Amino acid sequence: MEIFRVTGGAPLVGEVAVSGAKNSVLKLMAVALLAQGRTTLTNVPHILDVTIMCQVLRRLGCEVTHENDAVTIDVPAVPGNEADYDLVRRMRASINVLGPLLARCGEVKVAHPGGDSIGSRGLDYHIAGLRQMGAEITSEHGFVIARAARLTGAKIWLEFPSVGATENLLTAAVLAKGTTVIDNAAREPEIVDICAMLSSMGARIHGAGSSTLEIEGVEELKPVTHRTVSDRIVAGTWAFAAAITCGDITIRHGVAEHLEVALDKLTTAGASITRDDSGFRVHMPNQPKAVDMVTLPYPGFATDMLPMAITLASVSDGYSLLTENVFDARFMFVNEMMRLGAEIRTDGHHAVVHGKSWLSGAPVTATDIRAGAGLVIAGLRAEGVTEVSDIYHIDRGYPGFAEQLASLGAKIERVSAPDPEFP
Ligand code: EPU
Repeated sequence: MEIFRVTGGAPLVGEVAVSGAKNSVLKLMAVALLAQGRTTLTNVPHILDVTIMCQVLRRLGCEVTHENDAVTIDVPAVPGNEADYDLVRRMRASINVLGPLLARCGEVKVAHPGGDSIGSRGLDYHIAGLRQMGAEITSEHGFVIARAARLTGAKIWLEFPSVGATENLLTAAVLAKGTTVIDNAAREPEIVDICAMLSSMGARIHGAGSSTLEIEGVEELKPVTHRTVSDRIVAGTWAFAAAITCGDITIRHGVAEHLEVALDKLTTAGASITRDDSGFRVHMPNQPKAVDMVTLPYPGFATDMLPMAITLASVSDGYSLLTENVFDARFMFVNEMMRLGAEIRTDGHHAVVHGKSWLSGAPVTATDIRAGAGLVIAGLRAEGVTEVSDIYHIDRGYPGFAEQLASLGAKIERVSAPDPEFP
């Protein structure tokens, strides 16, 4: 087990480059299952979740290589149709094989992913939508089992614009008989990226990026080469890290248009933001001013940025009211922030944060990817040393996080954790 040891004090200054989005590439890898033959994805980040997804696809009979920033996936004529418990438990995105495998194989068995440390995460919208398309779905011994000789197009209305449900229904509908309409669909840039890849494979999709997706099913798709969209949550993390540490970071390949609300909040907090063709720059000259933030599906303020928002509020001048609308347990992270001296009160899905100039270093535990990144950045604005444990969470979503932080002037090292039995 390893930990990050962070010594607070230095503002982050310099340039970082952002690679492809975790929450796109994992789905693009599942999309590859829709076509027999060799798919190549580029701008792939070096993160643990990509390694796990490579393993999921190998167990389904694909030949997969991951070299430099490219993944190639050679899909057999008939892929396997069972995603086992162990892999699905390690990474919820493996549920994204459900739609493509049902469309390709007519029967699929995927372990139920369950909830995790950010909250309960149902599958009811995925299942209801697939049933409307004619699938028979049962839940047996911890597995979701879906069968349909051929799915048929349907009009589906999502109760909430769920990212995962939109993706599974979209990737099932592209090979269905007839037209499917998904209303109240998720609009995230990663969904637009998936639609772009599917379209170049031969799918017929209208409305990508809007709340209504119309998909005319086709008989067959062909493999392609596709470049993954830039990671807006990683870019947003760097933007908030600049503000939290009163620093100045240029974020190359960051797409400011995917972060409009977040960057607007940073401007209100006192940052200056400049954009050019290759990215954007965030400079926070003084202690940030408190701002209120509310998470919502895209284009709202992303729930994945909530830990960064809480960290910012904890070192801002004044009181901030933060509201979480997507996951019911995102505030678990608040307990760790309080170890660092943050003054936070939560009530249901609201948190009131009383900011202070500096936090106070302490041992803390990363409970999920984004909470982990938030705690490391909080440690940079804390007096003394902060040790962050369970950093495998951070490795799941942030390529070379410690190295990039060090290049910006942070004092951070990855060290072996002391054995709790014999410290
Ligand atoms: N929900 C249901 N039933 C469903 C599906 C979703 O009740 O059938 C609920 C969930 O419980 C949750 C809300 O709807 O309260 C939103 O869930 P959604 O399906 O939109 O999220 P997801 O697909 O499970 C993805 C990202 C998350 C990101 C959310 C929201 C991936 C692999 N994960 O999850 O990313 O927070 O969308 O934007 O794409 C992360 O990267 O750290 C992360 C957690």
